[in-house]
Amino acid sequence: MYILVIILQSLWLMLPAYVANSAAVLFGGSVPIDFGKEVKGKRILGDGKTWRGLIGGTAFGMFIGLIQISISLSFNNENFFGFGAFPDFFLLLFLLPFGSLLGDILGSLIKRRIGKKRGEKCIGLDQYDFIIGTFLLLLIFRQEWFLTHYIYGQYIVGLITVIMVTPLLHKGVNIIGYKTGKKEVPW
Ligand code: CTP
Ligand code: MG
Repeated sequence: MYILVIILQSLWLMLPAYVANSAAVLFGGSVPIDFGKEVKGKRILGDGKTWRGLIGGTAFGMFIGLIQISISLSFNNENFFGFGAFPDFFLLLFLLPFGSLLGDILGSLIKRRIGKKRGEKCIGLDQYDFIIGTFLLLLIFRQEWFLTHYIYGQYIVGLITVIMVTPLLHKGVNIIGYKTGKKEVPW
């Protein structure tokens, strides 16, 4: 496949994961996932991880995935531009956004343990935690799909694209979140 097609497809397929993470900011608020609990004087996850963010973000990511499926349908693409045949793609449409929010939660878990407060910067973790979560879930539940679309042969370009584009997208979305008052800090 042409390299440009691999680059575009790698981002297209990650879209449900990306939007889930951004949508959590919009849907988030109220009851924290850790219910305010502390371990050794520090919150488990903190007020930045809420049930509404997790559920709303996952649902929104799946919704965007379904829109992508219907777009590929209108192009008569039976492989749904990489998502795979019906009904296999349904699991993917869940794993992508859910893994992204799970990774984000794991990131906060690590941040709290090393003593960083909610919203405090943690370079690397802040940018990549959600995509690592998605990759991990894919490796566990859809390993062959992940390897053939992001690792094997020239598809490694897809992984490199995601690694390069993710921090830029993360920065852009967070600046928007900050300016619209949805986020307390612009990172
Ligand atoms: N959010 C949420 N629930 C989630 C994920 C995110 O409600 N599961 C919302 C919160 O309002 C959060 C915002 O999205 O403040 C931005 O997310 P993020 O940057 O991941 O959280 P931080 O507030 O920076 O907290 P942390 O230090 O734990 O990353
Ligand atoms: Mg943060």
